[in-house]
Amino acid sequence: MWFQAGRSSTILRHELDRRAVFARSWQLLAQESQLAHTGDHVVGEIAGVPLLIARGDDGELRALHNVCRHRAGPLALCDGRGAKRLRCHYHGWTYALDGQLLSAPEMQTAADFNIASVRLPQARVASWRGLVFVSLDQHAPPLDELLDGMDARLGDHAIENHAFHARESYDIACNWKTYIDNYLEGYHVPHIHPELNRMLDYRSYVVETSRWHSLQHSPLESGDALYGSGEALYWFVWPNTMLNVMPGRMQTNRVLPIGPEHCRVVFDYYYPAAGERRCPISARSRLQRPGSARGRGNVRARATWARIGFLHRGPIEPAARERRAPFPRAFARRLSQCMKKARHEPGFVVP
Ligand code: FES
Ligand SMILES: [Fe+2]
Repeated sequence: MWFQAGRSSTILRHELDRRAVFARSWQLLAQESQLAHTGDHVVGEIAGVPLLIARGDDGELRALHNVCRHRAGPLALCDGRGAKRLRCHYHGWTYALDGQLLSAPEMQTAADFNIASVRLPQARVASWRGLVFVSLDQHAPPLDELLDGMDARLGDHAIENHAFHARESYDIACNWKTYIDNYLEGYHVPHIHPELNRMLDYRSYVVETSRWHSLQHSPLESGDALYGSGEALYWFVWPNTMLNVMPGRMQTNRVLPIGPEHCRVVFDYYYPAAGERRCPISARSRLQRPGSARGRGNVRARATWARIGFLHRGPIEPAARERRAPFPRAFARRLSQCMKKARHEPGFVVP
């Protein structure tokens, strides 16, 4: 009953999601083309922790806490290129690109202060096919394990050669899990996305599920001005990332909780670095964005059902049960690990 909801515990569950799911998983934060050279950096956040991914002088990518060790001032305020150092905007402490403190004005005479011992904490960072993931959890399974099998299934789609084109984001009045459930079920496609349905043939969807991800794929037929023809691959990767791959294009979706009953969906569009860009913004928005009136209404209605503890009572169409499978399984696994620890280790707080 992972969807059962009661208003009294809503805020607690939101906090539990942040700590038990988002702070413990891999989050997609950047693409390598944004971090090609020394000093290139991207800012992001996981479970309330501000982060800064930077390429160091040694060529390594690091995910540093974007929080000064003095009084928590910010280092980078936005994405950037070619920084030589990271300088805090509050009192000017300066760090190297690997997180080592280099200078701290007027601190020379401070007792027990040793510049060499001050470093920005580091999160784990790993890349796959040009996508850069970060995890706060030193014990999360390696990224390779999370994405196991996806390389083989991608075949000729060289998504690592795609370049970033545009970002769209939408704030939606529902819990992040409701949005993901909507993505996974596909049952609504003929009704909410009739044009997309004509291209994809929803009834020929095939679903392949793995421990940490699921793939829905279908033949695709559309004019060259839209997606072209070939195969549409829709991956969901635990806990909140979607990867939509079609001939000559890729779109990533990230579903970010911004409150117990609100989420933000961030769509990033990528195309081959050299070559045509299929499907102009106006067309793709019409086809699939959650901001369309029908799409928004659909998700908002489901959010209401979820709030009153109603959603789980309806019958679930068999195909959708299969598509959704990895999400509730992984969610239940993660929560039960925390609950077990809480039972057996007095004083344990979900970190
Ligand atoms: S908070 Fe960064 S220098 Fe003071
Ligand atoms: Fe949809």
